[in-house]
Amino acid sequence: MQPSSSQALPHLVRLKDGTEVLIRKAEPEDFRILYLMFNSFSAETMFRRFLMSNTRLEAGDVQEMLRLEDTNVTSLIAVLHSDGKEQAVGEARYVTDSAGRVAEAAVVIADHLQNRGLGTVLFSDLIAEGRRQGLKTMFAYFDVDNKAIIRVGQKVGFKLAPVEGRPDYSMIKAEIGL
Ligand SMILES: CC(C)(COP(=O)(O)OP(=O)(O)OC[C@H]1O[C@@H](n2cnc3c(N)ncnc32)[C@H](O)[C@@H]1OP(=O)(O)O)[C@@H](O)C(=O)NCCC(=O)NCCS
Repeated sequence: MQPSSSQALPHLVRLKDGTEVLIRKAEPEDFRILYLMFNSFSAETMFRRFLMSNTRLEAGDVQEMLRLEDTNVTSLIAVLHSDGKEQAVGEARYVTDSAGRVAEAAVVIADHLQNRGLGTVLFSDLIAEGRRQGLKTMFAYFDVDNKAIIRVGQKVGFKLAPVEGRPDYSMIKAEIGL
């Protein structure tokens, strides 16, 4: 598996443990599988992604968080197929500014599939999609203690710098020119 990916979507990825996952663009109809995924997160994953400590989310909360109908939102999802059903196991997204040139990105992988290379591929695909859509810059904020996302950010080409004005340097701004 390549650390960076620019394959056209949808495409299959074979993870380090052999699991095959499909990466594709999310559609509004994916709400249910994403809702189930969000409600499967450990407290740590939930906090790292959404800075929230609750692990039970109402459908309305998830709807608001996902905003799948919003044209400023581009969402890619990773799905497993078994018994003819789809299970969402990851989501990466960016939200563009009004001019459509700069976007803020974020990514999350279901707990049981973390550390198998999926976050790296999904974030790479997100960057490739941003390029295809004509974005100039993508950025994201990482907690300084979040070693996994810092590593992933470095692998996919983000430049990292402490957030100015934060004396404790607890946040890192990651930025990539596309
Ligand atoms: C961050 C996250 C998306 C990464 O996805 P993932 O599929 O686990 O990432 P990958 O397996 O592709 O890569 C993880 C890398 O971090 C490294 N890593 C993981 N934990 C680490 C730690 N504690 N210290 C150092 N490196 C660590 C892994 O070794 C791997 O690097 P390598 O490929 O060079 O060995 C996933 O852990 C997650 O969803 N976390 C919770 C939500 C979150 O933090 N989102 C980011 C904020 S937007």
